[in-house]
Amino acid sequence: MVDTLPCRTLPKVAPHAVPVIGVGAMPLSMRGRAEDVAIIDHDDAIALLHTCFDAGLTLIDTARAYGPRFDALGHNERLVGEAVRTWRPVRDPVADPRASAVPSPLTIVTKIGRLRPGPGQWAGDASRETLLRHAEQSATYLGRIPDVVCLHRMDRQRPAAEAFSNMLAVTDAGLAGAIGLSNVTTAEFDLAWSVMGERLALIENERSPRYRGDGAVVTACVERGLAYLAWSPLGGIGDAARLGELYPEFAAVGVEVGATAQQVALAWLIAEGAAGPGAVIPIPGFTRATTVAATVPAATVVLTAQQVARLSASPAGEGSLFPDLSVPAAAGGG
Ligand SMILES: NC(=O)c1ccc[n+]([C@@H]2O[C@H](COP(=O)([O-])OP(=O)(O)OC[C@H]3O[C@@H](n4cnc5c(N)ncnc54)[C@H](OP(=O)(O)O)[C@@H]3O)[C@@H](O)[C@H]2O)c1
Repeated sequence: MVDTLPCRTLPKVAPHAVPVIGVGAMPLSMRGRAEDVAIIDHDDAIALLHTCFDAGLTLIDTARAYGPRFDALGHNERLVGEAVRTWRPVRDPVADPRASAVPSPLTIVTKIGRLRPGPGQWAGDASRETLLRHAEQSATYLGRIPDVVCLHRMDRQRPAAEAFSNMLAVTDAGLAGAIGLSNVTTAEFDLAWSVMGERLALIENERSPRYRGDGAVVTACVERGLAYLAWSPLGGIGDAARLGELYPEFAAVGVEVGATAQQVALAWLIAEGAAGPGAVIPIPGFTRATTVAATVPAATVVLTAQQVARLSASPAGEGSLFPDLSVPAAAGGG
């Protein structure tokens, strides 16, 4: 049965309300930057995405570059596209008075401008031609025009202002509902705002108990009505299960509010954007239905301002999962 999560109205992102927690679809196609690692079976991946949608997790993050091998780009977008096409929301007309209502619209965010020239190699290309080609491919793989298309990472061979301007060509060509950027510093955000202004709808940056590097970007997004998608919000696939051990304040607050440390981490991120008009939307990844079910309650965990402040002041981890974020793009992943 379709559940409804608390939603936010973010007109820059989509005409419909979006849930306060999204789905990071990357683990269905790859694990970190590794090539050729075992991923879950195709049918299980589709079923898992349907479980997410049924649970109300209807904002999905994907990327053209997500695939199990350098020569399998588009794998993740194809999975998302198939899951969207084949989803048949079930509503219980007795238990759910909204049974005749239109199912929650899905919100699809994808990312372009990333190349994988060979095994283990990653590079950025934000030329206008490449971005338009990638955006066309993404729309084909997804089977629809995405709500938001982001530049995946900066192209260090190109002036940032030129890359931002090239991204605008993607919406001008009708290949995206709106435009976003991923992995930007505060200075890059400020420059993007001067180039794109109100057409900039979404930022997708790393933010978690482990890594809290760019608070100024969060504040700017929340104040200006943008969505801030927090990637790897539980610290990444390798450490998510140990979040309470690694960041004991999150476990301690969990005891106080009757939630797991992971649920507290998601609630803490949501709380950072609660004052709006923008929002912070964590996008955890999943490979199992049990973790989907364990995530939904996080959307309604209520934290006091003091608890949020305690969590924010607690020690962070070892830094970014991809510490080479600001070096030439050939080394970066994700
Ligand atoms: N823009 C970028 O450059 C960039 C870079 C990296 C990632 N991302 C996006 O961010 C998304 C999330 O990142 P991620 O998957 O690397 O890391 P993550 O969300 O921090 O961690 C994923 C792990 O969390 C577990 N999990 C999820 N919900 C849980 C819960 N409520 N309780 C306990 N465990 C839970 C999952 O377990 P199971 O596997 O057992 O279900 C999975 O192993 C990616 O899927 C991708 O879409 C974007």
